[in-house]
Amino acid sequence: MQSDFEQVRPPDVLVVKNVVKRYGGLAAVDDVSFTLSKGEILGLIGPNGAGKTTMFDLVAGSARPTAGKIYVGGLDVSGEPAHTRIGRGLGRTFQIPRPFPELSLLDNVLLARQRQRGESVVANFLAARRVAAEEKQAMERARELLDFLLLSHLTNEPARVLSGGQRKLLELARVMMAEPEIVLLDEPAAGVNASLLEVIIDRIQEINARGITFLLIEHNIDMVSRLCHRVLVMASGQLLCEGRPEQVARDPRVIEAYLGGAA
Ligand SMILES: Nc1ncnc2c1ncn2[C@@H]1O[C@H](COP(=O)(O)OP(=O)(O)O)[C@@H](O)[C@H]1O
Ligand SMILES: [Mg+2]
Repeated sequence: MQSDFEQVRPPDVLVVKNVVKRYGGLAAVDDVSFTLSKGEILGLIGPNGAGKTTMFDLVAGSARPTAGKIYVGGLDVSGEPAHTRIGRGLGRTFQIPRPFPELSLLDNVLLARQRQRGESVVANFLAARRVAAEEKQAMERARELLDFLLLSHLTNEPARVLSGGQRKLLELARVMMAEPEIVLLDEPAAGVNASLLEVIIDRIQEINARGITFLLIEHNIDMVSRLCHRVLVMASGQLLCEGRPEQVARDPRVIEAYLGGAA
C-alpha cells in the first residue's frame, strides 16, 4: 500500500544508479543506487572504510565512476568535473576541512563564491559599476553567513586560529556562499564539542527549512536520528539497507556491520 507521502513525493534532485568505483582490485563503491528527494535530509552511515566518502567524491565529481550514472536535476552529470557540478547547485564539505589558514574568515568565505563575473568582464564604466555592486552584495552575504554561523567576531582573523568545531562552521559558511541546492556534508560533527554540535544541528535544520536538500555522512547517531528523514547504510562498498533512523538503528544487519567493522 502506498502512503499519501509517497503519492505526493517531491521530485528527485539526485539519482545515483548502479554506481561502481574501483581502486585497483578494491570496489570502494560496489553497485550502489539511491535517490534524494527535494527538501530531504538523507543520512549515509556505515563503518569506516564502507565507501561513504568515495560515494561523495563520485556525486561531487572529484572522482569518476568506473560504472553507473549520476543524475542531478534529471541531468546526467557522470562525466562532469567538480566545478561544473558546483554550478549545478551541488555543494560539499570535507571530512577534514582545509580552509586557507592565513586568509581571514571573510576571505575564505568570499573565495567560495560562484559566478565571479568581476574577473572576466570587459572593463567599461557600466560593467565596473555593476561589478562593484556585486562585490558589495557578496561581501554582505559573506558577513551574514559568518554571523549566521556564530563566527562574526572572528571575521577578520586568519582561519588558522579556529578550533576544530569552528572549522566545521566555516565549512558550512563556505558551502552556503555558493548558493547550493544540494549539500553533501562529510562528518560535520567529527571533533566538535557538545555546544557547537547543537549549533551545527540547528543551522542545518534552518538551512533545510529554506528548501536546501542534504546528504549527510555522520557517525554521531544522535545527530543522525535528530536530523535525518531517512538513512542509507553502507558496508564494504554496498548498500546494506535503508529506512527511518530508528528502523536502521535496530536492524541486526547494521549492528553486525558495525561490530564487524570495529574488530
Ligand atoms: N583514492 C583512493 N585510492 C585507493 N583506495 C581508496 C581511495 N579512496 C578510498 N579508498 C578505499 O576505499 C575504501 C572506502 O573508503 P572511504 O570511501 O573513505 O570509506 P568511508 O568514508 O566510509 O570511511 C577504503 O578501503 C579506502 O581505503
Ligand atoms: Mg569517510
